[in-house]
Amino acid sequence: MNQEALHKITYGIYILSTEFEGKPNGQIVNSVFQVTAEPATIAVSLNKQNLTCEYLLKTKKFSLSMLEKNTPMTFIGQFGFKSGRTSNKFEGISSKKGTTGMPIVLDHALACLEAEVIGQLEVGTNIIIVGKILEAEVLSQLEPMTYVYYHDVKKGFSPKNAPTYIKAEEMVAKKGEKTMDKYVCKVCGYIYDPVVGDPDNGVAAGTKFEDVPNTWVCPICGAGKDQFEEVK
Ligand SMILES: Cc1cc2nc3c(=O)[nH]c(=O)nc-3n(C[C@H](O)[C@H](O)[C@H](O)COP(=O)(O)O)c2cc1C
Repeated sequence: MNQEALHKITYGIYILSTEFEGKPNGQIVNSVFQVTAEPATIAVSLNKQNLTCEYLLKTKKFSLSMLEKNTPMTFIGQFGFKSGRTSNKFEGISSKKGTTGMPIVLDHALACLEAEVIGQLEVGTNIIIVGKILEAEVLSQLEPMTYVYYHDVKKGFSPKNAPTYIKAEEMVAKKGEKTMDKYVCKVCGYIYDPVVGDPDNGVAAGTKFEDVPNTWVCPICGAGKDQFEEVK
């Protein structure tokens, strides 16, 4: 099987949010598609280990926020590389309560919808959730972020719990990023490129990894500098 063929499947990038016993939680998902038009239904694949999945199976309601093209990587990192088990992802985030009572993330969202679960199918590590759409709203006319844009332009990766996960080493090989100066984050696969630096976080272009301050953290997943290893 040529895995490369699977990488040709296209997706968008979304935040699925839900709430259980007054505690909101949400996670990044790419595996979303509309199933039927009448009634309008939607499906998503969730890893059973995610807190969002645990909450959703109890609450049976969720919202989806469709993210715009220029959503910062740190924002995606907060919802896609961290678990609600260790941090409150909604702190400092702009959100609203939907008519179903579920939280809806508004930051960087160009549209949102709410759904109730009408079906589920266990598939190994994941559960496919089918939801009947109850509400849908357009929030702006910005362009949506696609999975290809996230990978190719924003240089983003998918963590182990994402259905489209590719090992960091394979990703490095795939992108042909083999120079000695680059460092890869062992947690999320982000590659620090000294040519680019990390200007958003105070590291100027042209800064060697050795010269990056020890307080610097991975812009995607927040891992410390000690979690990086040289790209061989
Ligand atoms: C680009 C991207 C796409 C992802 N797609 C999915 C997905 O479709 N399904 C899934 O279960 N996890 C996906 N993830 C992983 C979850 O967002 C991640 O495991 C998250 O930390 C779970 O948080 P939670 O434990 O708070 O629910 C994706 C992550 C990223 C960065």
